[in-house]
Amino acid sequence: MLIRKKTDIASSEITSESVYKQRRRFLGQSTALIAGAGLGLNAPRSRAGLQEDDDITPERIVTQYNNFYEFGTDKSDPYANAGALTTDPWTVAVSGEAKKTGEFAFEDIVKGLTPEERIYRFRCVEAWSMVVPWMGIPLKNILQQFEPTGDAKYVVFKTLYRPEEMVGQRSFFSSIDWPYVEGLRMDEAYHPLSIMAVGLYGKELPNQNGAPWRLMVPWKYGFKSIKSIVSIHFSKRQPVNTWQALAAHEYGFYANVNPAVDHPRWSQASERRLPSSIFDPNRRPTLPFNGYAEEVADLYRGMDLRKFY
Ligand code: MTE
Repeated sequence: MLIRKKTDIASSEITSESVYKQRRRFLGQSTALIAGAGLGLNAPRSRAGLQEDDDITPERIVTQYNNFYEFGTDKSDPYANAGALTTDPWTVAVSGEAKKTGEFAFEDIVKGLTPEERIYRFRCVEAWSMVVPWMGIPLKNILQQFEPTGDAKYVVFKTLYRPEEMVGQRSFFSSIDWPYVEGLRMDEAYHPLSIMAVGLYGKELPNQNGAPWRLMVPWKYGFKSIKSIVSIHFSKRQPVNTWQALAAHEYGFYANVNPAVDHPRWSQASERRLPSSIFDPNRRPTLPFNGYAEEVADLYRGMDLRKFY
């Protein structure tokens, strides 16, 4: 089959002229905003919620050391394989317990919403961590547009399924039942720290980090932050997320960062802050809720976090 890659087609050919211009405007505005918000030379940088020694991780590491199994399982695979993914046009299907459902162009969803710079600690369940300057839109502002009803207790996201452009989805060795699925309770999704990230380091989100938009929930293990989202479903029931489906005794639905609950195969008490090496492992204690306990612990009041891991 002949696959037309993004580079073969002018974006204006496949997207209507006005939608195309709208997207450029949105991204231009976002980039200017993040530059003004902290990445310019003179502007003060917001470090809310970060510790003194939470230095921003070098861009090269954030964009070249990735988990995105759709493009392979090695940390270097997404950077090597995601470049040709077509992200424009991008359509998102909205379904379930909401008044406004259907197919929406990415541009139309984000139109009029202002991205903000958010520098967050980011902790993978594999026990490495980073500090990343995201540019994102509060998730609540996005979801409210679809007017979820009182029956919406959870929101469920799915990643693009396009094996012709995603080499990992074609692999016989993959045990993942594609597409990648993740979900949040509605109150988690509406928490002010939850964002849809559209950029990094003042630039458009690179494909390997989940272009054109990906979830970012900083108090949870990284696998909750699903990339390249094409489906938003409002549900009455708690979904089974991809990693839970693979190994429910190792990965739960909540996945809140918790130094007191070890992974069955390794400790979660500490983490390796990247960059690190065998000579300088850069280990540091893991913080409850990844350091955001003050903001989010109330969401889980009365819950046994050993049971709901
Ligand atoms: N989303 C999809 N669709 N596929 C994936 O394999 N990996 C998750 C998460 N989102 C993953 C995903 C995991 S395990 C982590 S740690 C983060 O993405 C990594 O994000 P990063 O590559 O931007 O650091």
